[in-house]
Amino acid sequence: MQILHVCSEMYPLLKTGGLADICYALPQEQIKNGHSVRVLLPGFPAIINGLANKQLISQINTEFIQTPIKIWQAQLANSDLIVYVIESPELYNRSGNPYVNSSNLEYSDNYLRFALLGYVAYKIADRLDSNWFPQLVHAHDWHAGLAAAYIKAQNLATKTIFTIHNLAYQGIFAAAIYPLLHLPSQFFAVDGCEYYGKVSFLKAGLYFSDSITTVSKNYAQEIQTAEQGCGLNGLLQAKADHLYGILNGIDEQQWNPSTDKLITYKYSVNRLSLKKKNKSLLQQQLNLTCQENKVLFVLISRLTEQKGIHLILNCVSEILKRNGQLVVLGTGDSQFENKFKQLASQFSDSIHVTLSFDEQYAHNLIAAGDVILVPSRFEPCGLTQLYGLKYGTLPLVRKIGGLADTVVDCSLENLDDMVATGFVFEKFNDHDFTQAIKRSFTLYKDEIMWRQVQRTAMKRDFSWHNSVGEYLSLYQKLISSKV
Ligand code: ADP
Ligand code: GLC
Repeated sequence: MQILHVCSEMYPLLKTGGLADICYALPQEQIKNGHSVRVLLPGFPAIINGLANKQLISQINTEFIQTPIKIWQAQLANSDLIVYVIESPELYNRSGNPYVNSSNLEYSDNYLRFALLGYVAYKIADRLDSNWFPQLVHAHDWHAGLAAAYIKAQNLATKTIFTIHNLAYQGIFAAAIYPLLHLPSQFFAVDGCEYYGKVSFLKAGLYFSDSITTVSKNYAQEIQTAEQGCGLNGLLQAKADHLYGILNGIDEQQWNPSTDKLITYKYSVNRLSLKKKNKSLLQQQLNLTCQENKVLFVLISRLTEQKGIHLILNCVSEILKRNGQLVVLGTGDSQFENKFKQLASQFSDSIHVTLSFDEQYAHNLIAAGDVILVPSRFEPCGLTQLYGLKYGTLPLVRKIGGLADTVVDCSLENLDDMVATGFVFEKFNDHDFTQAIKRSFTLYKDEIMWRQVQRTAMKRDFSWHNSVGEYLSLYQKLISSKV
């Protein structure tokens, strides 16, 4: 099959979250399965500069911007993956975060920047590249939401899939911009991309695509409820026959403690003593009290409301009073950043905070930690708990979304059945979170039991193997259907 993925970020070129990991790993796995798979990305500086030996595919005029845009093609370094990139300096050549300006505000022309992404996906489906075209366009998140709309507007036979990585981000714009998208006027309707009088790129993706997927089975159910549906539960219920939950996988080339080039002491399920060396090293490097028996909690996260950061801030005393340690790596809301900074200066032998985005350090923290915290309010899939499982760093998670699908609580019966892999709490409140923290300290005192849970966690298979098969069967079904 010939497949084009459309997305706004992709590891290792540009990453702000899990989307980038998935948009890199999934296409590669599909290529390994013998398919011809390419990715289309906007020409943000990190993407343009990260690609060598680019070939010009086409230069075209569009109605989005006066100057012509260029579509380049390049092979990603150390990979079989071919990437198309849209060069439009006026729209994409801005330093810093790709979505927001230095004051953390959405760029006012984001509708144009991402309409162009969807439009070029359609052009590639319409054979812009004389050497290759996709049978199916797979668009990810709201940034790529208009791809299916442009394809439907032109009645192309190309099949379309839209994957929801996060329903909370919808790409909503004032109705006044609709004419500037150059879509048929009848598409701006309840049965289309209109959302309470505004334009929703996400809704366009949901409405116009042939199938919808999201990144865990549990989240696929949750988003059909009023509580988690972000106002789109009605539409998702109506489309339930075309909505599939397919769990994200781990890219084991990047995330495997026995081969990870970014960590100091590589280890495996049979060499767990080496994991402890990573912990001691980190304690030394961060000037934390160097003691092996202190439970080391790590947090690697966007510091936003979604991620349950206030639970950690409210309950950090529970960690400190049991002599635990907390190491944080994250960026996000300034109120959370400031509170973490305060805590780190107040308790410098037990808490360390780094407010930046650092891939190598993230690997080192996961290798060194005892427990990785993911107490999210909602979580479509979540990747850090999967990395935690793989590295024997037990996840402490809320029972929600993909976290509920992937972590098994250390209840006594689960310990007895040898299926426990972490600590799971139900209600999004300080009490339930604290109970889970307490359980982790209690289990840690039993070294043999802790090791057993680490081993169970590390042996769970969250590779792409199964999920890639699910995507490919869905592609096959759509491509072979005549409608
Ligand atoms: P989300 O996509 O909602 O942010 P995920 O758990 O799916 O959450 O993915 C987050 C990804 O971003 C993981 O690969 C995680 O390691 C990485 N990450 C998050 N914050 C940082 C950071 N400050 N530095 C390095 N990596 C980070
Ligand atoms: C989103 C979600 C996260 C998911 C990631 C990759 O950013 O918040 O749960 O793991 O996308 O699908």
